[in-house]
Amino acid sequence: MSNPSKLIIDNGNGDEPLSNHSGNRHFNAVLQVNLRRRQMLKGGLGASIAALFGGAGLAGCASTAGNAGGRLIGFGALPVSSADTVVVPKGYTARSFIPWGTPLTGNLPAFDPMKNSGADQANQVGSHHDGMHFFPIEGRDPYRGSSTEGLLVLNHEYVEPRYMHARAVGQKLDRGGVPALVNGRRPADECRKEINAHGVSVVHIRRGGNGQWSVVPGRFNRRITGATPMDISGPVRGTDFVRTRYSPEGARTRGTLNNCAHGVTPWNTYMTAEENWAGYFINKVAAGARTREQSRYGVRSADSKPAASRYGWELADSGADEFVRFEVTAKGANPAQDYRNEANGFGWMVEIDPFNPDSTPVKRTALGRFAHEGVVFQAAVEGRPVVCYSGDDAINEYIYKFVSRGVYRKARGLANGALLDEGTLYVARFNDDGTGVWLPLAFGQGPLTSSGGFSSQADVLVNTRLAADRVGATRMDRPEWGAVDPGNGQVYFTLTNNSSRTVDDGANPRAPSRWGHIIRWAEAGNDPTATRFDWNIFLLAGPETDSRFAGKPLNKDQMFNSPDGLWFDRDGRLWIQTDIGESAMNRGDYAQFGNNQMLCADPRSNELRRFLVGPVGQEITGVITTPDGRTMFVNVQHPGATTTAEEFAAGKLTGTWPEAGRYGRSATIIITRDDGGVIGG
Ligand code: FEO
Ligand code: CA
Ligand code: CA
Repeated sequence: MSNPSKLIIDNGNGDEPLSNHSGNRHFNAVLQVNLRRRQMLKGGLGASIAALFGGAGLAGCASTAGNAGGRLIGFGALPVSSADTVVVPKGYTARSFIPWGTPLTGNLPAFDPMKNSGADQANQVGSHHDGMHFFPIEGRDPYRGSSTEGLLVLNHEYVEPRYMHARAVGQKLDRGGVPALVNGRRPADECRKEINAHGVSVVHIRRGGNGQWSVVPGRFNRRITGATPMDISGPVRGTDFVRTRYSPEGARTRGTLNNCAHGVTPWNTYMTAEENWAGYFINKVAAGARTREQSRYGVRSADSKPAASRYGWELADSGADEFVRFEVTAKGANPAQDYRNEANGFGWMVEIDPFNPDSTPVKRTALGRFAHEGVVFQAAVEGRPVVCYSGDDAINEYIYKFVSRGVYRKARGLANGALLDEGTLYVARFNDDGTGVWLPLAFGQGPLTSSGGFSSQADVLVNTRLAADRVGATRMDRPEWGAVDPGNGQVYFTLTNNSSRTVDDGANPRAPSRWGHIIRWAEAGNDPTATRFDWNIFLLAGPETDSRFAGKPLNKDQMFNSPDGLWFDRDGRLWIQTDIGESAMNRGDYAQFGNNQMLCADPRSNELRRFLVGPVGQEITGVITTPDGRTMFVNVQHPGATTTAEEFAAGKLTGTWPEAGRYGRSATIIITRDDGGVIGG
């Protein structure tokens, strides 16, 4: 290694490497370029929409409650910005809130990154804020109730160890680096602190008479970390795939990791997604000797450079069980004697009841195992199955849908969670003609049989990607967040970019995809459980010279790239957040976009305006409002991450938001309108 002070990896943001080597087709390998696709790319998007959505198109959608004929978007668009500050439109105010390290539980340890211990971190807000929801304090409905008091629940995706430890000062560490090893080991409490900065925070908040929000001390506040005991439920529970020394019966595991986006169930619980978890584990055998579930997901091997996990937690000098589990090498006589299966406990959607601090989070295995970006639910209908969608954010991976076997009954409350344990997991195939098919991943159907190499539904789920390869799913440009239009049930997904794409297809029309796009579909017959759908491209992101929205290039008030976060508010505004990677942002032809930002679209009027620009080095991710739409919460993740290793060693920081002169800290921002109006309106 050229940098001896750094143990691990410079793998940037820890995104998973390309591991889809399936032969699934890129559609225009078949030399039929579809006319409809040409229409989308060359300006006929409106016509395409009308065709794809059967003439009803978007103009025919029922308007939602808050859009009774009025304009949805009322603010003035912002220009791009590369300043180290948050910019919002005239008439709006943004304030930072609950940054990493805010005292939350237990003895409320004050934030001091030079002195705080691993145990302190377990009582403080975690780092790298991401997906988030505001649960009104009544605890009955995720979108109805108080707009002045509730539980703000947010994910903490990963950490930057250089900002966390006194020992890092002066060392040459980039955003992925960890402080130098000591005798080949990592000090155990550094590892514990990093593990405890991951996971989820449940924060009880209230708006005071002065209009300012603050944390309410008390029993609701909770930290869930990379070490919190969790139940495994669904078809994988109790199978050989998840037996470990910690849980020989295969029913439990510890912690959730790399929690990117989230989901909100109709029964008022929070789902946290495990995204780029694979790199947190290493099997110290040759790459080719890993199990198939390890190799298809990119669990590290003895051939990885360096041969250690992302943060090297398996090297903790205490040798304690809580750390050695990150090495998944088979060492004992059977799985109950080692941690060969530990990584199989990750890659799931995890359900959390935010109103019960004593509840055990549940890994819902029926929803599949992959680099879950998040999950988004269709509106629940009494007596009908529950339907949700989830993207696998890695290069050339897939989009999935789950349909429960049982039906939703509002009166069952939290017991509806069991609906997520039994049902059909589907993967999407996007045909070039604008139609699509949901392909079931069900053991015994199609190629998913014993002769096809699968032994059970648990096997199909642990190896979800392999199963999706076999049924012929469409390889996508890194699926990130999804959102369901509250007015018509149409589903939107961001496809952030794909530098490795060499062959384009209808649903992923640029090779390589440097700027990303947003796709949308309508389920056949407007039935969320349908197995067929119609799709089109909502928007091709990029500069004015290479983008398309409503038949025109994006203008200066609209241009963006790398769409990631996506959320429909109650009135039907579509909020779009960007995540240009740290190695590209503010450089070359990415410089014209400035810092990462958030835009607001109205899919009915085809308006699109830039609403917010964040500080230097960060991504904007996570957005929710109070039920009245008058307070918005947005997360700013990894401000200042563009500081190079050399700059860090010299004590020079490229970004210091939210406090001048200190390390950048991920934080939430609270946005209000000075006239008290609805955000965006
Ligand atoms: Fe964690 Fe795919 O963004
Ligand atoms: Ca994301
Ligand atoms: Ca991203």
